[in-house]
Amino acid sequence: MTETEPVVFPQDRTCPYHPPQGYEPLREDRPLTRVTLYDGRRAWLVTGHALARRLLVDQRLSTDRNHPAFPATTPRLAAARNRRLALLGVDDPLHRDQRRLMVPRFTLRRAAELRPSIQRIVDEHIDAMIAQGPPAELVSAFALPVPSTVICALLGVPYADHEFFEGQSRRLLRGPGVEDVRDARDRLDGYFGDLIDAKAAAPRPGDGVLDELVHGRLRDGSMTREDVIAFATILLVAGHETTANMISLGTFTLLSHPERLAELRADPALLPGAVEELLRMLSIADGLLRHATEEIDTDGATIRAGDAVIFSTSVINRDADVYPDPDDLDWHRPARHHVAFGFGIHQCLGQNLARAELEIALRTLFARLPGLRLAVPAEDVPFKPGDTVQGMLELPVTW
Ligand code: HEM
Repeated sequence: MTETEPVVFPQDRTCPYHPPQGYEPLREDRPLTRVTLYDGRRAWLVTGHALARRLLVDQRLSTDRNHPAFPATTPRLAAARNRRLALLGVDDPLHRDQRRLMVPRFTLRRAAELRPSIQRIVDEHIDAMIAQGPPAELVSAFALPVPSTVICALLGVPYADHEFFEGQSRRLLRGPGVEDVRDARDRLDGYFGDLIDAKAAAPRPGDGVLDELVHGRLRDGSMTREDVIAFATILLVAGHETTANMISLGTFTLLSHPERLAELRADPALLPGAVEELLRMLSIADGLLRHATEEIDTDGATIRAGDAVIFSTSVINRDADVYPDPDDLDWHRPARHHVAFGFGIHQCLGQNLARAELEIALRTLFARLPGLRLAVPAEDVPFKPGDTVQGMLELPVTW
């Protein structure tokens, strides 16, 4: 590690599928460097692939978001403290128990079983786009409603309420101010509270994850209403925003690389590898947050108890020691060991589902709309700021 003037983290991307230009000095400074957060706090930034995988399984790094040492990369995150949390915000052993409860719903087999219904949802949205005729705004017509419909069915949340919870998730992840974020959180809590009460009053459980929690755990007293709300919030927010961003940004990236897209069209067997490479290249969840609970000696540096540790997935996934020519989009490289879904005990619970959704959405979109192209110049397509999950704000397309 070299001592340089700490770079500010996070920063906005200059191109939506590349790490911000301001991270260039960090990319050279592997595997660990220092950055400055918005509030002036210094944090360790993990930039090397091998060290990232080592530290992401290290139990001395905590993800307890209610702990005062937990880093906030935006004022919004600081405002989210002191909430009941599930999965991503809690450490073992509580995390282990919570995760065990959820894993059977998110296995590879369950994702495979969901493929026909994902295909139907994808087809319905493309039918509607075709019926309406070009042009279309792909985020609202396709990228957002597809994963949103899928996760609603899985959880047992009525999709009819999608405008409400999509709007509140947007405020939660990108709200303009701290009060806005608190209000969104309160409204979501209220919504899920009512939904849970309605499910508890129903004579028979539906087949969603929330029905199972309400009629099992809530009824037998092993979970409180607040616990179920915490599960509902993380599953719903993580389950639709992230995948929606991957679909919109993945489409934009493919349209910006016509020769790669042609290759994919000619040989659809490349698709699963292409999805991995897109996950690596786009690294949409860029900045996994932890704090150290004990001292950790690592590659010549000492992380002290209480220090903030952040994993920049966009930089880690472009570690040239692991991915030669890391800025090239290459379907033929083994991209599988990327950390776009994290690594270790908090590695994305929904990754099997997300992979199935991405494969089906991208394959079907480009097969059914062979003339798909941007409806405006690429530089005019608005994308998200650096302090949230990366993706397109809008994606105007025609065909
Ligand atoms: C392409 C889409 C997705 C991406 C890139 C993504 C990314 C991630 C990442 C990076 C983490 C780890 C965070 C950390 O360690 O700090 C994570 C965790 C998680 N993801 Fe995803 N995710 C995606 C889709 C989904 C979907 C569809 C669901 C469905 C429910 C989901 C649910 C979760 C949950 C519950 C966690 C926390 C797991 C735990 O703490 O045990 N994600 N995701």
